[in-house]
This record gives sequence, structure tokens and C-alpha cells, in this order.
Amino acid sequence: MSAEQTLSGPLSPAPAAGTPMLEVNGLTKHFPVMGGFPFKRQVGAVQAVDGVSFNVSAGESLGLVGESGCGKSTTGRLLTRLLEPTGGSVKYLGQDITHASRKELAPIRSEIQMIFQDPYSSLNPRHTVGTIITNPMEINGINPPGGRAARAKELLEIVGLNPEHYNRFPHEFSGGQRQRIGVARALALNPKLIVADEPVSALDVSIQAQVVNLLQGLQREMGIAFVFIAHDLSIVRHFSQRVAVMYLGKIVEIADRDSLYERPRHPYTHALLSAAPDADPDNVTLERIRLTGDVPSPLNPPSGCRFRTRCWKAQEKCATEEPPLIQLGGSGSGHLTACHFPEDADAAARRAGEGVPAPRPTQD
Ligand SMILES: Nc1ncnc2c1ncn2[C@@H]1O[C@H](COP(=O)(O)OP(=O)(O)OP(=O)(O)O)[C@@H](O)[C@H]1O
Ligand SMILES: [Mg+2]
Repeated sequence: MSAEQTLSGPLSPAPAAGTPMLEVNGLTKHFPVMGGFPFKRQVGAVQAVDGVSFNVSAGESLGLVGESGCGKSTTGRLLTRLLEPTGGSVKYLGQDITHASRKELAPIRSEIQMIFQDPYSSLNPRHTVGTIITNPMEINGINPPGGRAARAKELLEIVGLNPEHYNRFPHEFSGGQRQRIGVARALALNPKLIVADEPVSALDVSIQAQVVNLLQGLQREMGIAFVFIAHDLSIVRHFSQRVAVMYLGKIVEIADRDSLYERPRHPYTHALLSAAPDADPDNVTLERIRLTGDVPSPLNPPSGCRFRTRCWKAQEKCATEEPPLIQLGGSGSGHLTACHFPEDADAAARRAGEGVPAPRPTQD
């Protein structure tokens, strides 16, 4: 059954495409670090997410990429209010949900769902597939016209599983199938927004495409908006219309997919993209930049631009002034970059046209 067929079911229509769905402003999460003896006190804070701002429109998929530890999952958990923010705000369909109480969040909880990275630990091994999918309906008081069990079986079909799997247990399924069960569980509440936290990174490459295609069908046919978190830049390119690049708790660049992939302005984005294998020979080939050194600790991030300690373009200003996330000259509309010394907007395309990469210092 295709995703479209479910629209005749108990799903309520998604908001019209382009409606502002999520408005995130200065979102911050600092985890306190306790120490001292004999009396414990706060001795520092892990600045996991630090002043992140972006919007997601209805029906849109926003990709969130960056190296391990840059704050992607924390951002996802803040959006779904699994974590309480330290600062900033999140609006969902115009309603400020930053500090909404449990009761106030109740109707929204079903509309914003999360798909987790690990399909092995995110499903309760003692529950049947049927219970896993009907539980959220029960908790949220959702009574589909044909009953919860019928709806769960319908959802199993939508995600490409057999309705007869209803009475089986998670251990009877492969990783890809388990992730499909996770998707069916998320769909059980008729979400308008799904935060997918590395939904395919635990799966074999051959299975990844199937699950991504399934999610893409849901986005296209049901109009579900996505925040799609991933390490893999090629998957994000395939799935997301807009992409935000995070580094050490901050967004350093955000733009439409083509603008970002073909004309990256932030040196970090350029380095990430140039390191990613690209199967499409028509895509612009970026000059290869090798990133060296470790990501600094979010407990004590560098002053000014947080990327400066690994940046080959860094100058004194980068240590003293934090670059704002702004639209730079030569960037298309909505292409925002936080860099004092950005990459030339057309250099990459020009070099690719010439077919000769310009020499470039790399850090070794
Ligand atoms: N509950 C917590 N307490 C303290 N520090 C935390 C907590 N959760 C996350 N962190 C720290 O916050 C930073 C961001 O973590 P987060 O899991 O959001 O990164 P990520 O980008 O999702 O990484 P990965 O790609 O490895 O999943 C890391 O330094 C992490 O150690
Ligand atoms: Mg993560």
C-alpha cells in the first residue's frame, strides 16, 4: 500500500505547504558539570547547543549535519521537548512551546514524533509489534474508526511490512525491518513533523536507501515535515530541501540544498563536502580539503569563531569576534553563513568548469 492510500484513513490533513511549522530562535542547551569535594557544585557546563536558530515549513525536510558531538541529537531532543532548553525559544505552528507544561504539550506531543538512530534499543523487546504501535494511540487517546489494531496493521503495510507481523516480537526482525516498525510507531499518531535522528545510520547501506525512500514517500505524499539528522551528507542531499551545518553547538551555514552543496561559503562546510564521496558525476567537484585536529571540547569552546582552531583561513578577528549567521554578498536568498572570511561563492563552480583544482593549503 502506498503512503497516499492512508489519506483516506483517520489522518487529519497536514498544514498547507510553506506554513511556518517550527520557528527556532537562539535555542540553547548547556549541561551542567558537577565537581568538587566534599560538597558537589557546578564547575562548568557542556555547551551542547548554543544559540541555534532556524525555521521549518510544513512539508519541508531540513537536514541537520555535522561531526559527532556537534549537538545534532540534543537539538532534536529540544525540538521534541524530550529535553528542557537552557535558553532560546521553539514555536510550533505559532505557539511557543519552549516551556510548555506537560498538559499544554499533550496535544502537540502526538504531532511531533521522533525516529531514533538505533532500531535495536528503541523498541521494547517484551512488547509485540502490535503493542508497540498501538501503545502511543492508547496513551494519546486516539481511536481510529476501524480500531487501533486495524490501524496498526494498516501502518505495517504502509511501511512495507506484513500485517501478520502484528503479533511478533522485535527480535524476530532485521535492523531495517525494526526501523520500519519505528516509523510505523511514529506514524500511529498522525504526526505533522518528524524529527529523524540518524534513522538509517545503523543499517546496512543496501537497506538505507529503502528506508530513506519510505520516509521520502511519507514526506511527499502525506506532507509530513522532517528534521533529518545525519552524518552522511549524500543521504541528506537526497532527502532534504534545505540543510543546516552544525559545528560545536552552533549552526555555521544554512541554505537550500543546491546552494549549499554547490556553493558552500563556510570553510567547514566546504571541508565536510569535499571529504564526502559523491556518486553523481554531474555534481560540482569541490576542491579537496582535509580537516585535521580534533573538535575542541564543548566544555571550553574557542572564543570568537568556534571553528577557528581548525580553520586554514583563521585570522586574529576570528578569535575575538563571533561571526554572525548572515546572508553574504553573492549568496542566494536564504543562504546564511557565519564566517568572517567566507569562501568565494563561485570559486567551486568555476574550478569544476575548468576541471583544474586550484592549489590549496591543507593542514597536516
Ligand atoms: N545528558 C548529557 N549530559 C552531558 N553532556 C551531554 C549530554 N547529552 C549530550 N551531551 C554532550 O553534548 C554534546 C553534543 O551531543 P549530541 O549527542 O547532541 O551530539 P551529536 O551531534 O548528536 O553527536 P553524534 O553524531 O555522535 O550522535 C556532546 O559533547 C555530548 O557529550
Ligand atoms: Mg546524535
